Amino acid sequence: MAIKEETGRARHVAIIMDGNGRWATERGWPRLVGHRKGAERVKEIVRAAPDLGIEWLTIYAFSTENWKRSTEEVLGLMAIFARYIEREADRLATEGVRMRFIGDRSRLDAKLQKLMAGIEARTAQFSRLNLTVAINYGGRDEMVRAMRRLCADAAAGRLDPAALSEATISGALDTVGLPDPDLIIRTSGETRTSNFLPWQSAYAEYEFTPTLWPDFRPDELATILSRFGNRDRRFGGVRKA
Ligand code: IPE
Ligand code: IPE
Ligand code: MG
Repeated sequence: MAIKEETGRARHVAIIMDGNGRWATERGWPRLVGHRKGAERVKEIVRAAPDLGIEWLTIYAFSTENWKRSTEEVLGLMAIFARYIEREADRLATEGVRMRFIGDRSRLDAKLQKLMAGIEARTAQFSRLNLTVAINYGGRDEMVRAMRRLCADAAAGRLDPAALSEATISGALDTVGLPDPDLIIRTSGETRTSNFLPWQSAYAEYEFTPTLWPDFRPDELATILSRFGNRDRRFGGVRKA
């Protein structure tokens, strides 16, 4: 979607939820305990988001690179995702949350894929909050999958390469229909984007907080959002007097 030149409020907030492992390790606990705690924080942030003026919330749950972790951790994370969907479905529906997923689902377990499709269908009519969860998501992987489809369209004569535009590419990505993020927050003190929304974040503002994700609460989100309100987003132009 085109860059919307609206300053003041972060309508679309995207979060790189990082630091679960360190949070657990610091306490001498297995990493999965940190991931479970992290899922609790997701529930809390999702509940708080609409009252903070957020209309779109996109969260990075599992990257295309996270398969490098131990089988135990990967399976544990997948179980947490499935449990979240099963346990939160009613509440999401009651609260008017539309849940969607981005990323390549084909590598995910069939049962999880079914749960994902089920909750997307069940909440499709809601719009109080648009919650998008990135699972097996990588910005480069998303781009490759989109390019394969566009190239196939061009080869079949359905797409004129000369007519290819930014809108065509945006429309071929997993995030089709989502506005670009206004603000991307990363917890845990790392100041990198780790393959999260590279195309969509061209004009996003970034906030990096040292807080580990299991310690990230709505009051910190509120503080970050109030700082966002003071930013001067110029989108390449000149500040209006
Ligand atoms: C973020 O926490 C959650 C996922 C990437 C799934 P990490 O698991 O990356 O936690 P740290 O960075 O090791 O502390
Ligand atoms: C990014 O965190 C991915 C998610 C939050 C799901 P990582 O912990 O995987 O990123 P790196 O390895 O520190 O770049
Ligand atoms: Mg990490």
